[in-house]
Amino acid sequence: MNDVRMLYSEEEIARRVGELAIEIAAAVPGDLEIIGVLKGSFVFLADLIRALDKAGRSSQVEFLRLSSYGSKQKATGDVVLIGGYPTVGDDRPVLLVDDIVDTGNSIAYAKKLLQANGAEAILTCTLLDKPSRRETEIKVDFVGFTIPDLFVVGYGIDYAENYRSLPYLGEVEREAD
Ligand code: IMP
Ligand code: MG
Repeated sequence: MNDVRMLYSEEEIARRVGELAIEIAAAVPGDLEIIGVLKGSFVFLADLIRALDKAGRSSQVEFLRLSSYGSKQKATGDVVLIGGYPTVGDDRPVLLVDDIVDTGNSIAYAKKLLQANGAEAILTCTLLDKPSRRETEIKVDFVGFTIPDLFVVGYGIDYAENYRSLPYLGEVEREAD
């Protein structure tokens, strides 16, 4: 595996996730239906739902899985749903949670999918936002950290399925095409 340069420590992530939960609780009056985008969001989601609980908001959790990079560092641009569509109740606001918004294609696709299936009041949340890479305009309601165009791993986020178990967020060198 390649060298990893630390971007955010465990402590910095925990602090920011706590703040995000407070921001979300302030914006959403009741309980939430959380839809996590697999696989990259699972560690963030696990911490976020517990931080939300401390902030007074309980959540129900579902997942959807989208196509990913495969083993490469560049997305193909085509986003597809892999596996089943999550069960979404219509009585709670939906919070769509992803690890990274990069081109914006994935989260825009997921939001449209939920809308097309009748979900109302969909809010979006990402741990990391790379606005310089945007191809699809999408308003992300809650952002953990805004970062430049780096390739990030750790805290659930992978490069070719490696590094997900790192407790912190780091950067790995981009490989030549
Ligand atoms: P988008 O559709 O281009 O916004 O891509 C979003 C998805 O690509 C994220 O949910 C990640 O799974 C993946 N991704 C984007 N940037 C990175 C990165 O720096 N490291 C690892 N995965 C990434
Ligand atoms: Mg993802």
